[in-house]
Amino acid sequence: MANGQLNPGAREELRRRTMNGPRPMGRGLLAVAVAIPLILGVMAGAMGGYLLRPPTTSATSGGATQGFNLDIFDFYFMGVGGTIDGVKNPQVNVTLGNTVRITVTDKVTMMHNIYVDGYDVQSADVSSLGASATISFVADKEGTFAYYCAIPGHRALGMEGKLVVGSGVGGINTLPPIGPEVLPVNDIIRNASDVPPPITRTTPATVEIWLNATEVNGEIEPGVSYLFWTYGGQVPGPFFRVRVNDTVLVHFHNDASSMMTHSVDFHAVTGPGGGMAASMAAPGEWGNFSFKALVPGLYLYHCGTPDVPTHIANGMFGEILVQPDVPLPPVDKEFYVGQSELYAKWPIHTLGNQLFDGQKLWDEQPTYFVFNGAFKALTGAHQLTAQVNQTVRIYFADGGPDFISSFHIIGEIFSRVWQYGDLTDPPLHGVQTVLVPPGGCVVVDLTLEYPGDYILVDHALLHAVDMGAVGVLHVTGPTNSTIFNPGA
Ligand code: CU
Ligand code: CU
Repeated sequence: MANGQLNPGAREELRRRTMNGPRPMGRGLLAVAVAIPLILGVMAGAMGGYLLRPPTTSATSGGATQGFNLDIFDFYFMGVGGTIDGVKNPQVNVTLGNTVRITVTDKVTMMHNIYVDGYDVQSADVSSLGASATISFVADKEGTFAYYCAIPGHRALGMEGKLVVGSGVGGINTLPPIGPEVLPVNDIIRNASDVPPPITRTTPATVEIWLNATEVNGEIEPGVSYLFWTYGGQVPGPFFRVRVNDTVLVHFHNDASSMMTHSVDFHAVTGPGGGMAASMAAPGEWGNFSFKALVPGLYLYHCGTPDVPTHIANGMFGEILVQPDVPLPPVDKEFYVGQSELYAKWPIHTLGNQLFDGQKLWDEQPTYFVFNGAFKALTGAHQLTAQVNQTVRIYFADGGPDFISSFHIIGEIFSRVWQYGDLTDPPLHGVQTVLVPPGGCVVVDLTLEYPGDYILVDHALLHAVDMGAVGVLHVTGPTNSTIFNPGA
């Protein structure tokens, strides 16, 4: 990938910032956080605090050693033994000055670890069933500190608990200040004209498509960096074009620089998971499969790796067009636009390195709505251009993960609409706004009669004007006062 890589220094910086990045408590965590003091309070009352003691304590020079065992699941810690037994993301209480030893054991096959904020202690990664790792440190700072899995994204998915040292007052379990832009960024905005030419073949064939998952730092808007998870380094992923009854060989590769497992689920596939399980690939690995494109249409594809909404929200979706036997009417220009939501830690327009926020996703409270990955991305240098008397086709996708798009172009009327991306039935004509569900696509045509800037929006207009789902179709050519007369 020409533009897909971060240098090691930048990746380390990103890792550090991501690790330090806060997250609000998920609903489950919140429940645990509320429940633990209640439970502990009740126990303390009944048993004089006996059960508040950790499971193992042994005397060492300068303080006792307190040991804890945590099992690791996707995506939480589970206490083992003592008062934390069976408690999800348990609060770990230790005495100031004691040595703390925490052993984590992987109960799944995904890579995880444990990191303790404030003490900057991180275990080795564990990635196989039954593998374990231990951290040990002296609890010499009073306060409340977050512990979490430092694999990027995992903390946001719920792998977080609290270490309480002594009174628990103090600590750095607070939001780090969002700093000035420090990370190099790639242009993650997919150019809307990045559409391969129509297939002119009249018979089915075996075709190969190549897809590379890569995690890249890009800009949501100038001065706001964000770690996108992408196909091919841009959002949406590459546009694929095949023909009905083609056999498609999918070469899916997860870039070696990735932190996450990725995969792809093509909605054009007839087969389990759309290829999701067949393509599931750890960093550096391949996940290949083939399918027969049985039904013509415009289809979404997206990552199918849990948590799927997180992977889509971070940029992992794209389109595949399965051309019908009878091709669509030719047009002068074709464009590719994909809408999605971004869920960020800090409010919209906050400068610095933004972080994904799993709680905002859970609450369905997007920070941005975007076309092609970024705030008002398809404007300026990325605007769509055409001329009067040209016909234009837009292949539009709604990756979501959660919101419908009411796709509209201000000042234009769609002359043809293949609703839901259905290319088998005749198109609708004369449509102002099309409803596109998350996980769906639409093909729209328009003819251009008059020059000017035509604004692409999600006509849930807050999503557009304020939150960023905006594009410009810039049309040049002669005016025609019988069509439109601004001075009449
Ligand atoms: Cu993914
Ligand atoms: Cu899907």
